[in-house]
Amino acid sequence: MNASQTLERPLAGRHDAVDDGDLPPVLRGAFTPVLAEMDVDRLEVIGTVPEDLNGAYFRNGPNRRFAAEGRYHWYDGDGMIHAAYFDRGRVSYRNRWIGTAPLAEELAAGRALWKGLHEAPRRDRPDMPLKNTSNTDVAFHDGKLVTMWYLAGGMYHLDPMTLETLGPARFDGAGALHASAHSKVDERTGEFLFFDYGKDAPYMHYGVIGRDGALAHRIPVELPGPRLPHDMAFTEHYAILHDFPLVYDDDALAAGRHKLRFHADWPTRFAVVPRRGTPGQIRWFEAAPAYMLHVVNAWEEGDEIVMLGTPFRLPRDLAGNIESEKFAKMWSVMHRDFYFHEWRFDLKTGKTRERVVDDVFCTEFPMVNNAHRGQRTRYSYHIAMVRESRMQPRFAGLVKYDYDRGTAQAWSEGRDFFYSEAPFAPADAAESEDHGYLVSFVWNAREQRSEIQIFDARRFGGGPIAQVLLPHAVPPGFHATWVSAERLARGW
Ligand SMILES: [Fe+2]
Repeated sequence: MNASQTLERPLAGRHDAVDDGDLPPVLRGAFTPVLAEMDVDRLEVIGTVPEDLNGAYFRNGPNRRFAAEGRYHWYDGDGMIHAAYFDRGRVSYRNRWIGTAPLAEELAAGRALWKGLHEAPRRDRPDMPLKNTSNTDVAFHDGKLVTMWYLAGGMYHLDPMTLETLGPARFDGAGALHASAHSKVDERTGEFLFFDYGKDAPYMHYGVIGRDGALAHRIPVELPGPRLPHDMAFTEHYAILHDFPLVYDDDALAAGRHKLRFHADWPTRFAVVPRRGTPGQIRWFEAAPAYMLHVVNAWEEGDEIVMLGTPFRLPRDLAGNIESEKFAKMWSVMHRDFYFHEWRFDLKTGKTRERVVDDVFCTEFPMVNNAHRGQRTRYSYHIAMVRESRMQPRFAGLVKYDYDRGTAQAWSEGRDFFYSEAPFAPADAAESEDHGYLVSFVWNAREQRSEIQIFDARRFGGGPIAQVLLPHAVPPGFHATWVSAERLARGW
């Protein structure tokens, strides 16, 4: 298929559109699911795509195939990978559904068989009460793409070039291992560090899959009860697992429903464990009550482990108490307020120190140069979020942080542009941490089109240096990764 062919659906619909009948905000306008799978060889470019930007940009996200009964949540959609391949200034595009087992069942039935997060889970399917859409995250490991789901479950393997689903991810020595989104690859070792969590004791596991695709390590991480962690971190020698006081309500769980409760009087706990450590080597560090989706990075500094992230700003009433019900609701709807935070775990004293890095900008979906992940990084690149966005999350721009200088630089072109998690893509012969580019799918409502914007990370304030025009609208999604041409060729 080439770019001149007829688009499969009109690009109409601004992301604040209100005229699409009863559809929820996360199914209309820019969020309208895309039904076509396309391959476009050479995309039109405004500006110049750098010759030293070579590799592939992969982004996962929800893209509903069949309408289900009941209320729709943005997290419900079936996973679809959108990919852009960069080759010496030329860009091609491909998108494919992730061929999950439940989607195959629905395709065979010709209709939805699972309802969404807002409705009751399926009691007749203890193997899959909620649909594992694999729609949340994507990584490159052992020559394949690995797609993951935020509620943890079986992962899927995809061919990185064709995006064909190869099947449920299976690992030597472990079979079809379960893991959560934000299990992550250490590009320095090629290892895949994973965590899995669930509703049964011990409630969490942590492990390592080697560069060769074989299970190298797996241990239980005992939690006091079922939790809803979202991310993990690693340094050169340690892994860090999260126990935030956002928990499933026991009574609701017993009745087969999902309801979250935030315990404002419980500490946050972080497990620090050597990367190949035993359960007995886990050290728990307590910190102030918090909830966070995404880690920026973590590293070792003398006797301390530093972890940066973008937690929610907790709502407080006039008496200074955190309103736990309000917070649980905040999590499940789209009114979100985040800031940039630092934790320091002192391995000698067992104490935690923490501080706010930045609360001027509301940012989330943080990225660093992944070649430096687990090591000290100076720069991170976040999405500027709109705090109140009428049930539609809005990724309004990009922010580059300089941790050394304590500065932040933002890029926005106003409300007509909706960004996507923007991974850092190192230049071919990178000479410094920020020598490279940021790539982001963007819904450009001003021109009523989707495009990929490319920023020079070192000259970030100048705005995009190129806009790559896409053949159809790419709805906003979740997590993305950049895989350099060198890594694609090497396989890890
Ligand atoms: Fe996430």
